[in-house]
Amino acid sequence: MTILIKNGKVVNPAKKQEKVMDILIEDGRITKTETDILKEADEVIDASGCLVMPGLIDLHVHFRDPGQTHKEDIATGSAAAAAGGFTTVCCMPNTKPVVDNPETVAYIVEKAKQTGLTNVLPVGAVTVGMEGNTVTDMEAMKKAGICAISEDGKSVMNSAVYRRAMKTAARLGLPVLAHCEDINLVEGGVMNLDEKSEQMGLKGISNAVEDIIASRDILLAKETGAKLHLCHCSTKDSVTMVREAKADGIAVTAEVCPHHFSLCTEDITANDGNFKMNPPLRKREDMETLVGGLQEDVMDVISTDHAPHSQKEKSGGMEKSPFGIVGLETSVALTITNLVKKGRLTWIQMAEKMSYNPAKVLGIPKGTLNEGAVADIVIINPDETYEINPDNFKSKGRNTPFAGMKVSGKVKYTILNGKVVYHD
Ligand code: DOR
Ligand code: ZN
Ligand code: ZN
Repeated sequence: MTILIKNGKVVNPAKKQEKVMDILIEDGRITKTETDILKEADEVIDASGCLVMPGLIDLHVHFRDPGQTHKEDIATGSAAAAAGGFTTVCCMPNTKPVVDNPETVAYIVEKAKQTGLTNVLPVGAVTVGMEGNTVTDMEAMKKAGICAISEDGKSVMNSAVYRRAMKTAARLGLPVLAHCEDINLVEGGVMNLDEKSEQMGLKGISNAVEDIIASRDILLAKETGAKLHLCHCSTKDSVTMVREAKADGIAVTAEVCPHHFSLCTEDITANDGNFKMNPPLRKREDMETLVGGLQEDVMDVISTDHAPHSQKEKSGGMEKSPFGIVGLETSVALTITNLVKKGRLTWIQMAEKMSYNPAKVLGIPKGTLNEGAVADIVIINPDETYEINPDNFKSKGRNTPFAGMKVSGKVKYTILNGKVVYHD
């Protein structure tokens, strides 16, 4: 099977190269990137006016499988990933049961392979049952296929337990994906603590809830040598801490989600569960600082925290709905519309933060369009404008605050291992 992609703007972050070229794919690999490749192919894709990037990598999704497949399952989550341009996703372990053993890891790996629409890399829990007490058998889970460990959905509050886990993760070379939330400080908060929460008469979550654990985790990474990755950073001080930790030579990377760089509490127009996620939308100055952190490459990664819930579950307003919004099928458009088209990120930076840098965090040879690389590729029309319509999602989740928003940037093709898995 050969595919020839003609005349796209090839954005290769591995070489910091951006140039109109052709790409030849043979037997699942990129065999040539040049201008005007003259070669017969089984399929020719005209990518004129489009960007050709390495397949996107999302370090943070929730596929709810096993256990809560009414929200999402590995097949629908994989379809949403392919439609969103993602060829690799890391799925968080807060399923039912929790991913804390090699058997559950093997279940996910097997079901994802059968689905075959995206590479699904399971993340293992830090503690058994995510109960915060006993560190899991990471070595056995690693053999079964985990790419990282995380307690996402909460933090391991016992610092001694977390330190022990980090030491083992460092020894095994597993990245630690950290959800930073001091649960004792949440006190029933459902949105950011500011004028807006006061106005709405709702309990608030302060920035310190995140910042205290982010600082602790950075200090533990310094002590243990673990490779720490801060999930879904939402506060301005998290950006400051990541900047300083990097200057100090600590192995820390950080991600920002599209909702945190696109929206702030001023944008909450109704007591609607679709504005509820954890961490919450913050103040404008937090949002601006996160954008600045992405622009200056303090913040390395854009991830979605794709967190599907059913419409019924999300209909309980800010107080009763569960935390989380879907993100796989809106991430490209929000990044292009709110960052690149506003001059805050270059195309190279977009490809770095959505593919090359996540690959580096995981330590996998992906995120490039170099000759010889596995042909995981996304083709995007950056100028196609449309309205976000959740009814078109492949995900089971419809829970997004972006419904009806006018955006630019449409995924046209997703190619996985040299095969077209999505075509718009
Ligand atoms: O908004 C969120 N949803 N934040 C989390 O930490 C967990 C996630 C979920 O699992 O729904
Ligand atoms: Zn989280
Ligand atoms: Zn999450």
